[in-house]
Order: sequence, then structure tokens, then C-alpha cells
Amino acid sequence: MWIYLSRPDITGKEIEAVCAVLRSPNLSLGPKLVEFEHAFADYIGIKRAVAVNSGTSGLFLCMLALGIGRGDEVITTPFTFIASATPVMMAGAKPVFVDIDPATLNIDPAKIEPGITGGTKAILPVEVFGNPAGMDKVCEIAQKHNLAVIEDACEALGSALNGKKVGTFGRMSVFGFYPNKQITTGEGGMILTGDDDLADMCVSLRNQGRGRNGSWLSHERLGYNFRLSDINCALGIVQLSRIEQFKAKRRQVAKWYQEMLADDDRLILPAEPPGCDMSWFVFVLRLADSFTRRQRDSVLQAMRSRNIQVADYFTPVHLQPFMVEQFGYKRGDFPVTESVSERTIALPFYNNLTEDETAVVCRTLKEILDKN
Ligand SMILES: Cc1ncc(COP(=O)(O)O)c(C=O)c1O
Repeated sequence: MWIYLSRPDITGKEIEAVCAVLRSPNLSLGPKLVEFEHAFADYIGIKRAVAVNSGTSGLFLCMLALGIGRGDEVITTPFTFIASATPVMMAGAKPVFVDIDPATLNIDPAKIEPGITGGTKAILPVEVFGNPAGMDKVCEIAQKHNLAVIEDACEALGSALNGKKVGTFGRMSVFGFYPNKQITTGEGGMILTGDDDLADMCVSLRNQGRGRNGSWLSHERLGYNFRLSDINCALGIVQLSRIEQFKAKRRQVAKWYQEMLADDDRLILPAEPPGCDMSWFVFVLRLADSFTRRQRDSVLQAMRSRNIQVADYFTPVHLQPFMVEQFGYKRGDFPVTESVSERTIALPFYNNLTEDETAVVCRTLKEILDKN
């Protein structure tokens, strides 16, 4: 039997909500889209929410809505999923990486200012693994230099820093609903902003550049089909209504791991930083600095051979082959990111992972490390 890396938490309520849409005449651009957007905006406490078909398309539309394009630069972190940086490139702009703080694994606010040039238009911070630490400092720097903050909140639905919810730090923010996320719509994403003009632009861009007059065959600008169907939205509405329950379940799993793996000096465990209400996305620990990348990879391999799914979140974005080719990045450019990423292990993590399964994962990991 496998213990999976992630699993969605779908009940009869979600299934019934999806079936109800399938029995209705409105499979897209119907009432569930409006309901999901309103429920999401209410939950975060922001004026506008615009649903799209993925987090990636959401981030891309933020670039377009803010007028970011050729010749512009956007500062972001190299320790993230590839789709924090690729929307910048899709818009024709350049992602400029700044190394991370080893304590939070988020962009290091102290290193941002030297990366700002005359071409910098925005900072795109990421709450990596759900951790909102440092977002306040990023916003201060952006304000000082008159830069927009585009918050990649894809991994952090439900997190808050000093009582301020993730998704409210950026001028525009984006969440993602891939099945490993805190809530899922199958595929999907949500753009948030307090600015009506930016939201209206995203509404048009996601729907073939159509204007507000509602005419189906009138296109005011180059647009895309990034719509999220009512089937997906119905799933999202039920999932969002369970978010506090999801947060509690995930926090419990994280606590089991923390307790079962405590006091092992071969491991650096993730923890909720001070002032943070963390909505756990994944449980990513690090092997101690004495371990090499090769040893970490052999631990991953051994875990998999014992039927436990694990992952090496993340390979640094600047070292992806096409990034090296296009921008000439090389090993050594962002040493903290590189050192961290060589030693990470993402353990199985999802709402309904049981205490017994967690114990099997921990016991297996320790046995493998003992033999190493
Ligand atoms: C940090 C981050 N940014 C962007 C994305 C892209 O979201 P999607 O997969 O919905 O396009 C993801 C998740 O997949 C992510 O983890």
C-alpha cells in the first residue's frame, strides 16, 4: 500500500454540488462563478475576486493588467514553483531573482533593494509552503520604491501574518486550486485586488477581451480563454466553506510530524514562525547541513522503494535548463536557495493522513537515515 504525497478531501457534498451544476443549463459563466468569486472575496476580506482556470494564468493576467511587459523587470524568489517566474516571462518581462532567508524560505527582504533597477516594475513575493513570514517587510520596500506587489499566494490560502490575511498584501494577489492545494477546484485560480479597474481588466482578459456591454462577438482587446467553469466553481464553493476544518486537520498532521520527529539532530523541521497563523500546504523538512544532495536523493529513493511518496521541493528556478539558457544563471548565483534545495524532503501531507500513517512515514525515514 502506498502512502501518497497529497490527496484531495472530497465528500458527498462536493459531488452533489458538481452534479447539480451538471443538471443545470449553466456550465460556464453561470451563477456558481459569481457565487464562488463573492464567497472568496468575503473570506479574504477584499473588494474583488476574479476566478481563472489556473494560478499560472492568474499571475499572467496580473502582469498584463499592471502593464508589465518587454523591458520590465519583476523581482521574485528562485525558491518556488516554476509558475511564479514563468508568467513574468510570458508577459515579455524579466524575472530578477533575490535569494531567500534560510529561516523562512521566503524572499529575503534584506536582499531586495540591491536588485532594484530603473526597469523594476514590481515585486512578486511567494508565501512558500504557506508561510507568510516577511510579507510586511516586502510591502514596505515596495512602497518606498513605488513598486507594485503581486502576491503569489498560491500555496497559502488561509494563512495570516499578524492578523492580516494572505491575499491582502499585494496590489494584486493570486491563489491556485490544483488538487494538492488547501482547497481544490480540480484546476483553477483566483485573482484578488481592491482595485476595480484592475479587476475589470482581468475579467475582460480571461474572456477573450470581451467588453462590459456583454456582447459575445465584440472584442475590445487581445484576450484569452482563462475562464473557470461553473462545475469547477461549485466544487470550490464547498471546499472554501470547509477551509477552517481543512486548516485544523492539516495543522494536526503537521503537529504529529513535529512530535514524532522532534529531537533528531539530522533533521531541520518546519515550524510556524512568530506572528504567523499558518495554513499548512506541505510538510517540507531539511536534512542537516552535513548531508549532501546525493545522500538526500538516496533517502528519497529509499522512501519511494518503501511505498512512501516524497518530493524534493524545489529545484531552484534559476537552474532550470531554459532559465540557464535564456538568462545565463549558474550554480552559485543564489547560494542559500541552492543549499536549502539540496536537502529538502517533502513528506506525505494531506487532510486525512492518519496518525498511524504519519508514524509509518517517520519510522521509515529514521530507519533509512540510520542506515545512511
Ligand atoms: C508558488 C506557486 N505559484 C504558482 C502556482 C501555479 O498554479 P497552477 O498550478 O494553478 O497554475 C503554484 C502551484 O501550482 C505554486 O505553488
